Amino acid sequence: MIKRNEIEEVFSNFLSIIEDEEIKRKVVDAWLLGCKKGGWQSMEELRQMPFTLLTDCKGINFLEHTLAVTEGALQLAKAQEKQYSIVPYNINYDILVAGGLLHDVGKLLEIGKNNEERFTKSHSGKCMRHPISGAILAAEVDLPEEIVNVIACHAKEGEGRPQVLETVFVHQADFATFNPLVMMTKDTLIRKDDINIKKNRGVLKNG
Ligand SMILES: [Fe+2]
Repeated sequence: MIKRNEIEEVFSNFLSIIEDEEIKRKVVDAWLLGCKKGGWQSMEELRQMPFTLLTDCKGINFLEHTLAVTEGALQLAKAQEKQYSIVPYNINYDILVAGGLLHDVGKLLEIGKNNEERFTKSHSGKCMRHPISGAILAAEVDLPEEIVNVIACHAKEGEGRPQVLETVFVHQADFATFNPLVMMTKDTLIRKDDINIKKNRGVLKNG
């Protein structure tokens, strides 16, 4: 069984930013509830879990992705506060960090393991995508509705819908980690390596 201190340890750097002790505790509560409902037994399993089943993750795991998106959203917010002389909206860092840490918590339910121990879409995942199951987890532990909005609206479910500011940042950070992988799969991500490879093959040299 996954323990509270194991979740706290992985997310410690970000949890320490959250000032509201109740929100901090409930973020971990939501993760523990997701682990319990999803039947996850160890942190090692979560380190092996791909962060999405929609494209090749190239070895980037679920926990790494959660940390990268939280960091990315945080830095997007800080960049505006640093560079703008006037920031025309209030950024709530508790909602931003909690939302980042929880945006994909529903994947604990959406993803499961099949009989061959391979990661696959679970029964729950067939019934609903992770923004919905994650929003339910957050509501179950009584997190504020603004954080529920980040989870519910961070992906395509949020397109064209009202969003809190923190959802916008988490959405952008999330897609900045997801889109390059999709583009790699589709061979639409232009990389210098590709150019060098083509050069070596004489493709560019010959026009
Ligand atoms: Fe994500």
